[in-house]
Amino acid sequence: MPRDVPERVAVDGDRLWRSLMELAKIGAYDDAQTGLRGVSRLALTDADADGRRLLVSWMKAAGLTVRVDAVGNIYGRRAGSEQDARPVLIGSHIDSVASAGAFDGCLGVLGGLEIIRTLNERGVTTRRPLEIVAFSDEEGVRFGTDMLGSAVAAGRIALEDAYALKDADGLSFGEELTRIGFAGPHGVRLNPPPHAYLECHIEQGPLLVRSGTDVGVVTGTQGISWQEILVYGRAAHAGATPTEMRIDAGLFAAEIVRHLRDMVESGDFGKLRATVGHLSLHPGDTNIVPARARLTVDLRNPDEDEMVRAEEHLARYLDGLQGVQDGLRITARRMARTSPVAFNARLQAIVTREADSLGLTHAVLMSGAGHDAQEMAAVCPAVMIFARGEYDGISHSPREYSTAESCARAIDLLAATALKLADEE
Ligand code: GLV
Ligand code: MN
Ligand code: MN
Repeated sequence: MPRDVPERVAVDGDRLWRSLMELAKIGAYDDAQTGLRGVSRLALTDADADGRRLLVSWMKAAGLTVRVDAVGNIYGRRAGSEQDARPVLIGSHIDSVASAGAFDGCLGVLGGLEIIRTLNERGVTTRRPLEIVAFSDEEGVRFGTDMLGSAVAAGRIALEDAYALKDADGLSFGEELTRIGFAGPHGVRLNPPPHAYLECHIEQGPLLVRSGTDVGVVTGTQGISWQEILVYGRAAHAGATPTEMRIDAGLFAAEIVRHLRDMVESGDFGKLRATVGHLSLHPGDTNIVPARARLTVDLRNPDEDEMVRAEEHLARYLDGLQGVQDGLRITARRMARTSPVAFNARLQAIVTREADSLGLTHAVLMSGAGHDAQEMAAVCPAVMIFARGEYDGISHSPREYSTAESCARAIDLLAATALKLADEE
């Protein structure tokens, strides 16, 4: 290692915290149910655009060379002493779900920025360039496909297919990206690929906080299967229509929700998790038997074979359900699908060693959530570090919380790992 490159640097935890809180003001809302302040910064909304502009201004102020690619991914590069060496890429996302906290995704991006700021102050030049990235639309809630920006960068999803995705109002990803001014001129593919990809993320689960462990070394991500189910019944008068004459789309939607829970509880599909996060009835009026129901189904499974069995079982169940009454029709459309991904073993070992040398307690765990790192794992060695959340690790909720200390610890570990990798041949 050149003399002026330290093996680890302590980041400024207060500055990191201030940046997280500053970004969380964009898209902030008062959550009536919890009484807390939440964040709603859905992909390609005006709030997302404001968040992106703030990030770009911070990247530029930190001396980074910023480029935006055609899917809206924002990269900021810090030169290394070997200009042409492939960079160490550090990233995550800054779009959010509709009921978010301040940390999901933002910790990984702003943690990367905090490392850059710290290295600038210390006058450290790494051998390889360091690059930070905020990937577009990781959450997938608005346009229906998660990890979208990183999947396009990795070549799993074609740019035209991403552009064609539509939100509930019929607005396309491509139109909205252009409208907010982030359809950049740069190519989407990471060619040549980075030397490595690192992502720090809040755990979003209870393991670290319940065991009092400082950080998580993440082994991989589980499979994700999203589909939209439409149930077509028949509108009818709520008071005048005899029960036996009804084709009640709401009733069958409820049966599907119950059946998914039964599938999970049966234990027949391994460690399956199932969620109906969206359920709407049309026309949606008090005195009308619902004519139509729309449901989204989110299945998670760490085992690909079990996932396939669960999907096939659900398809058969829906087929059977459709047959129980004349006039009832049920359709299913796949929205997104990823298989389980294992992170790079060598990088996991480096993270573990660096955690030991920083004196951090660590647990080895698999991610319950999907992450951009699983897309990057297809193009270069990738690994993730989890920061501890509070309140049982609850996330996708305004209750999501971590402490300044937990965030700083995880970013110190990210910095040590990045320095190690940036010094490699
Ligand atoms: C991303 O947050 C996911 O849905 O796992
Ligand atoms: Mn996330
Ligand atoms: Mn999320």
